[in-house]
Amino acid sequence: MKKIILLSLIPVLAIIVFVAAQNPLSDPPAEPLAEDLDLGWPDKVMSLLERSCFDCHHSDAGNMKAKSKLNFSKWEDYKITKKISKLNAISEKVKEKSMPTQKYLKNYPDRALSDEEIGVITTWANAEADKLMEE
Ligand code: HEC
Repeated sequence: MKKIILLSLIPVLAIIVFVAAQNPLSDPPAEPLAEDLDLGWPDKVMSLLERSCFDCHHSDAGNMKAKSKLNFSKWEDYKITKKISKLNAISEKVKEKSMPTQKYLKNYPDRALSDEEIGVITTWANAEADKLMEE
């Protein structure tokens, strides 16, 4: 009798597993693509941007508003003055912790920047802006 009950549970479990597999609670973020982007920036900076920013600020991202403001895939097309102002904005937004957005960090807490990582990005963005200003 016990065996029959256990056996009859198998299809039920199979259905639960199947339904769960079809309906993930939330879609994982699109796979970020840094390999196709060679901007000559340090690997450390690139990997931080890839992890914490590309889900919105990359051509493959679905966030139109974010992309229209800043799209790293289009960086090479930006005029030098635009690059400098975007670098200043990056430094500012990261420092004041308004980027990545709080809503995004609630869904993906592992995308948050540590204080040290914030330092890496702001130091780099400021130096890169200075470098462009000298050109
Ligand atoms: C969840 C999506 C999302 C993520 C992740 C994200 N951003 Fe944004 N970002 C936006 C949106 C939407 C805007 C436009 C609205 C605004 O300015 O608040 C924006 C605007 C900006 C701007 C302002 C550009 C301008 O000229 O006004 C900068 C700079 C920026 N983001 C930098 C970053 C950096 C750097 C990261 C990673 C550390 C990042 N963002 C991660 C969504 C995102």
